Amino acid sequence: MEPEPRRAVDPSSVVRRTEPEGLAGSRPRFTVAGPEAVFVRTTPALRLGEARLRELVGSEVDAVAAVGRYLVDAGGKRLRPMLTVLGAGAAGFRGDLSSLMCVAELIHLGSLLHDDVVDGAELRRNRPAAHMVYGNAATILTGDFCLARAVLLAAESGGFRAVTELGRAVTAMAEGEVLQLQRAGNLHTSLDQYLEMIDKKSAALIAWAAAAGAYATGDEAAASALERFGRGVGVAFQITDDVLDYSPGTGKLAGADLRERKLTLPLVHAMERIPGLRARLEAAAPEAEELPGLVAQVRASGALEAALGEARARVADALSCLEALPPSEDRESLAVLGQYLVERAT
Ligand code: IPE
Ligand code: IPE
Ligand code: MG
Ligand code: MG
Repeated sequence: MEPEPRRAVDPSSVVRRTEPEGLAGSRPRFTVAGPEAVFVRTTPALRLGEARLRELVGSEVDAVAAVGRYLVDAGGKRLRPMLTVLGAGAAGFRGDLSSLMCVAELIHLGSLLHDDVVDGAELRRNRPAAHMVYGNAATILTGDFCLARAVLLAAESGGFRAVTELGRAVTAMAEGEVLQLQRAGNLHTSLDQYLEMIDKKSAALIAWAAAAGAYATGDEAAASALERFGRGVGVAFQITDDVLDYSPGTGKLAGADLRERKLTLPLVHAMERIPGLRARLEAAAPEAEELPGLVAQVRASGALEAALGEARARVADALSCLEALPPSEDRESLAVLGQYLVERAT
């Protein structure tokens, strides 16, 4: 049997409340109780997508197939396919989503292969990063393969609007990653510059994933609402990833951003709270043996809670964008998922 994508919450603990008919009125009839319920209701669709994803990373060139398969088999949350399934449902798309839901995950796979090379990251999804096993050249070129495969698939399964919007999202991602590299070690990067960078490198693709079904049906109003939702949730998701960088158990090295001296929102708050931290980091990148102590100081400073507070505010704004869509169980699931993306760090 195909391995299931890893999930942070046990889907067997599902509880769903359904409002009595009489109370429904203008409110949605369904109440999706929590993230577990969302995982359970998206599981059948995601299972089909999982099988398709494995086909899509296949290649007659063995080395390409090996690198793609290595990263797919390592798991991951499959957040982007889940957003495509729910966003498409909320936009009224009724059809086969097994290909469309793989587009953003393929882009994500390509970007992770590239990102771990440029970040010098040793661990990904609880395994040695692909470049540690297969080398930089095969990893970077397989990343290119995943990106190109995704573009082809977007054209086939989503049409012209989907593929042009994808082009915009992927160019933004590349710009965001380069901006981050350029600014590494610059601890005076402004908050606005940080937000611009994460909007490009992470939120653009998340917005595309949420709006993909609406691009396919040509529903402009739904596409615009889902893009705005995805952008807000995507920024909050990256802030949360930056908070989780200070925690064990993510499948990545704790403190990796600090080691790279990447200015992230938790670090902005930590530098305001810990005297001497900015000067220490400006002097030189921390040595491996100093990292655990610095991570502990940041955790104790309250900086992580402050950053999560800002992520929560962005999710609240993002959820209000969903009001432009007709009430549905998928719309409600998007709201639950948006909140979970931040609450997973608490
Ligand atoms: C990691 O993304 C990279 C970011 C954009 C923050 P995910 O946290 O979605 O990674 P996986 O897919 O679950 O491994
Ligand atoms: C990754 O950002 C964003 C993209 C892959 C485009 P990060 O560098 O923060 O992601 P992780 O922490 O390595 O997963
Ligand atoms: Mg990285
Ligand atoms: Mg990170």
